[in-house]
Amino acid sequence: MTNRAAAALLAIAGLAAASAGQQARVNGSSWVHDIWQPAALANKTLLDITLPGTHDSATFTLQDHFAPGSNALLEDIVRLADKLGINAYPLVIAWATAQNITLKQQLDAGARFIDLRACWSEPSEADPSAPTGWHTFHMVLGLPIAELLDQIAAFLDEAPGGEVVVVEVTHLLGSNATTQAQLRALLEAKLGDHLVRGMQFNATLQALTQGATKSRVLVLLEDWDGDGSSTGLWPDALIRGEYANQDNVPKMAEWDQGLIETLGGTGHIFRLWWTLTENVDDIVAGVLDPSKYPTKLFDLVRLANAQLAGWAAANRNYTLGNLLVVDDFENSPALEIAVADALRNCLDDPQLRARSPSGDDCRSWGIAGDCAASGSHGDFVRAHCRRTCLQC
Ligand SMILES: *[C@@H]1O[C@H](CO)[C@@H](O)[C@H](O)[C@H]1NC(C)=O
Ligand SMILES: *[C@@H]1O[C@H](CO)[C@@H](O)[C@H](O)[C@H]1NC(C)=O
Ligand SMILES: *[C@@H]1O[C@H](CO)[C@@H](O)[C@H](O)[C@H]1NC(C)=O
Ligand SMILES: *[C@@H]1O[C@H](CO)[C@@H](O)[C@H](O)[C@H]1NC(C)=O
Ligand SMILES: *[C@@H]1O[C@H](CO)[C@@H](O)[C@H](O)[C@H]1NC(C)=O
Ligand SMILES: *[C@@H]1O[C@H](CO)[C@@H](O)[C@H](O)[C@H]1NC(C)=O
Repeated sequence: MTNRAAAALLAIAGLAAASAGQQARVNGSSWVHDIWQPAALANKTLLDITLPGTHDSATFTLQDHFAPGSNALLEDIVRLADKLGINAYPLVIAWATAQNITLKQQLDAGARFIDLRACWSEPSEADPSAPTGWHTFHMVLGLPIAELLDQIAAFLDEAPGGEVVVVEVTHLLGSNATTQAQLRALLEAKLGDHLVRGMQFNATLQALTQGATKSRVLVLLEDWDGDGSSTGLWPDALIRGEYANQDNVPKMAEWDQGLIETLGGTGHIFRLWWTLTENVDDIVAGVLDPSKYPTKLFDLVRLANAQLAGWAAANRNYTLGNLLVVDDFENSPALEIAVADALRNCLDDPQLRARSPSGDDCRSWGIAGDCAASGSHGDFVRAHCRRTCLQC
């Protein structure tokens, strides 16, 4: 067990002991199943809970081959490496690696959201040894998509039931209608029975995982507007929440603060990134003075992950996204935060749960319009969401 997992176990045991008067056993590979009862997860939907997840999830293995499509940062790095007479690949990979454990290991460590970036790699005269077909990438190519889906399927097959994983498949660089149809066929072939279909994506976790002891995967696909409930592949447009695109924690936190105060309760899956993004100045600084400046993405990641628990504690009256997405998952507190949120299990209707530091602002559930409602619902909203209602 990692230190992080041990810490999670202690935190969860403490919380559960305090709230339920008994010890809960929680384990990254089965935590949703394990806290199902104490957190009353059965009747909650994906829009009511926070799932921890990984950014650029499949960057744990990257190859010395550039991915298709242009990327301004990549071009800058290659130009810089060229000027300094150094090999560009190690430099690119140092700044492209956001996770260092496999998807299966991430899921077993508790991650339930996978950010899977996909590209179609054509045979290339310039780089004849580059692998071809559907691959993941982050500036350079990673593993074949088929192999990555096998890892997700292996987790779902082994899970005791009740686990729900959200996989967002994006970018699709270098593809066309024909190759995109191949990608959908691959998703169907690899994830098949585990796909969420025959219901809405916002069904309760009970409904999503009913029938067998199966666990499920909600696949959201970029550039796809097909009917998810029949195909099992859902439009990526169901997700809201852009990343800050900042290389320092205060700016990123300020951006995320804006999101938690406005998103949530809109009927979309609210995705919150606690991630820093390098720019070319960061990379130049690290090359020129590696003793003083970050030389790889993980150097920035350490700064971000160190501040997540404090920021979450200061904002515990807000939802921290339905998907709380981090780098270097193993060394982040994302799982503890998600479990603590689920176990807090507010007495009031989760739809009305207060989200502000003072506990009476429910704007992030989008219920401001209910302030004037008549009857007991209106009374409840006015009593519990005072700040929201003062703004109406
Ligand atoms: C965690 O759960 C998995 C799946 O149920 C199980 O195989 C594994 O032994 C558990 N690990 C611990 C440390 O209890
Ligand atoms: C879920 O809702 C059903 C029907 O409303 C109720 O009978 C059941 O007790 C609820 N389960 C939990 C775990 O809250
Ligand atoms: C991943 O990186 C972390 C640093 O954050 C390190 O502690 C860990 O050992 C690395 N794991 C692997 C498998 O390389
Ligand atoms: C799509 O790309 C594939 C692979 O490069 C190619 O074989 C096919 O002709 C393309 N189809 C269209 C409609 O452009
Ligand atoms: C689920 O989403 C559908 C539309 O996709 C909407 O009509 C329905 O009200 C939603 N249900 C809940 C419980 O949010
Ligand atoms: C959250 O709201 C409650 C009131 O509902 C308040 O007592 C508490 O101090 C708030 N927590 C934080 C961290 O602001």
